[in-house]
Amino acid sequence: MHDTLLLFGATGDLATRYLFPSLTHLLRDRLLPPDFRVVAVGRTEHDDAGFRDWLRERVSDADSRDGAAFEDLLARTRYHALDLQDADAISAALAQYADRPSVSYLSTPPNLFAPACRGLKQAGLLEDPSRLVLEKPIGHDLASAREINATLKASLDESRIFRIDHYLGKAPVQNLLALRFGNTLLEAVWQHRWIESVDIVVAETAGVDGREGYYAGYGALRDMVQNHMLQLLALIAMEPPASLDADSVRDEKRKVLRALRPMSADSAGVDSVRGRYGDGVVEGTGVKGFKHEREVETFVALRAYIDNWRWSGVPFRLVTGKRMPSRATEVVVTFKPVSHWLFDRPRSEQALPDRLRMRLQPEEAIELRLMGSLAAPEWGATELQPLSLDLAMSPTPKRRIAYERLMIDALKGDQTLFVRDDEVEAAWRWIDSVSEAWATAGTPVEDYPAGSWGPSTAASFLPNVISGNGKRGA
Ligand code: BG6
Repeated sequence: MHDTLLLFGATGDLATRYLFPSLTHLLRDRLLPPDFRVVAVGRTEHDDAGFRDWLRERVSDADSRDGAAFEDLLARTRYHALDLQDADAISAALAQYADRPSVSYLSTPPNLFAPACRGLKQAGLLEDPSRLVLEKPIGHDLASAREINATLKASLDESRIFRIDHYLGKAPVQNLLALRFGNTLLEAVWQHRWIESVDIVVAETAGVDGREGYYAGYGALRDMVQNHMLQLLALIAMEPPASLDADSVRDEKRKVLRALRPMSADSAGVDSVRGRYGDGVVEGTGVKGFKHEREVETFVALRAYIDNWRWSGVPFRLVTGKRMPSRATEVVVTFKPVSHWLFDRPRSEQALPDRLRMRLQPEEAIELRLMGSLAAPEWGATELQPLSLDLAMSPTPKRRIAYERLMIDALKGDQTLFVRDDEVEAAWRWIDSVSEAWATAGTPVEDYPAGSWGPSTAASFLPNVISGNGKRGA
């Protein structure tokens, strides 16, 4: 396990909210090597002591800030103020850390990846076996992603490049693999013959909140669908890999992403909805709408098709939005109706199809809806009602921050939960087809009030979430 972490973007929001708290927890639980050290790099001028004080004030996670582990982490942390455009300055300041194999973590905007890599390379910090970790976004479209990937590969081999998608570090997301490949029951019906549709919903109550500059250039399609939602889709739809090693899993995910049917301008009208939140009320609090001169969406609903043998004709509805009524990340698999209905009640049109709901956050639950007659009156064995097999994890187990798992894996060199270059590019290829279809078709960004489930035109994309007036459905 490598024991030197160089953290670029150390004064950024991600570092204070997640990365330093994650490292604190790992130190507390003795999961880091004895000589572990952090080299924090940011733009703001601080000396080591000044940075430590600054961090003490900022780190928001109380259980990190107060513990002895946090002070231990600070004592292991050195700080350098550097202009990341300046490769020579990076190299001059950081070459001293090339004495041990390291992991350099770029939590910076993508335009800084290239100069930072040049500086790191010059300093000897990308020599084998040192590694590079990158935060999203990896580009803005396929062309820019390819350019970034080419720049990275000029400095080090793909086997030492770790692209983060923090959803892959979440335990309930990893459980999708466990459920799919640890159970004959599911694998037997996991295909178009038995599955009617798949819904992937990531609803957030949070708004754009202080990230307007970044968000206006990205929107929900690039901020959420390109990475997190397509990764969820790939885990749900992939073929069984031969093993769980990094390339076996990533080969299968890439095949799914490459089989996504490109969106055309003709289908954009029926297969997508874009929305932007206006003023409204979320969880009882009044909030202001997102205003920007650019036509950018904070909500997107898409119907995607995977053109392969297993998924032919099955719609995957992908919906994500900010300022929704409640926070929920769910995958819902709806099965086909029974082929020949035998029962008097309900009539076949009213029978509900079997449905598997995997709720990933904020609570974790797995619920299987079946039809049965247990609740029918005596002698009423032909009267069926929906029954629910409910595996709610109650109370929800306290999970590690996704970054804890990912940092350990990067320090150890396990790439399974990191995204490979060809996956990123396959995802961008499909996203580009959507944004080009929108541009050609002139797909409008429709307003929705904060605290609603998006524009009313999106209701058909949320059959398992919305019933009637916007309340959560059955
Ligand atoms: C980030 C997006 O990648 O994921 C944010 O940039 C979004 O806009 C966040 O809010 C959601 O992550 P989580 O873990 O809160 O579901």
